[in-house]
Amino acid sequence: MKKAGKKHPGDKGCDAQKRPKTLQDPGEEAPTPRRRFLNRLWLLLASLGLLEVAVMLTAYFKPRKPKADAPDAATMLTTGNVADFKPGSVTAYPQGRFYLVRLADGGFMALSRQCTHLGCTVPWDEDTGQFACPCHASVFDMTGSVVKSPAPRPLDCFPVAIENNVIRVDTGRRIRRNQFRDDQVTYAKSDAT
Ligand code: FES
Repeated sequence: MKKAGKKHPGDKGCDAQKRPKTLQDPGEEAPTPRRRFLNRLWLLLASLGLLEVAVMLTAYFKPRKPKADAPDAATMLTTGNVADFKPGSVTAYPQGRFYLVRLADGGFMALSRQCTHLGCTVPWDEDTGQFACPCHASVFDMTGSVVKSPAPRPLDCFPVAIENNVIRVDTGRRIRRNQFRDDQVTYAKSDAT
């Protein structure tokens, strides 16, 4: 009869917890090279999918810069036909915050209503044929040039486009200028020299 003997320090016994770990559990099959390859392929495809989603999200949320020279349809305001404006006339467009000026030679300008001194709205004075600021008495002529300071520079202007005799003003592109130049005036094809 065998005695239930004392366990000696060297005894391995049958306790699973104390059993030394083998590299491979006998119940578990070692992955075949084919399975390893498929696992890696799945990982690669999943990573590519995530990358593509990240790129799409970045492109979607990235603010888009309008092209410098391309007019933005949302800010283009149609003011009418060339024939609707007499030479030497000034028409206010409060919604676009500008005046459409038709100079005596037939050319068009769109001038900002905002004084370049401290930003007051500048009314057109039909009697004097000038823009006169009510805040500090700056005066501008029909091209927006300063006639009387303290305004430091001419009224800003907006690009004007004339196609098929229809006038459109790009209210999204305010042009800050230091002096009047001829190229700030737009002519209808029949008026162009
Ligand atoms: S704001 Fe027009 S002159 Fe001062």
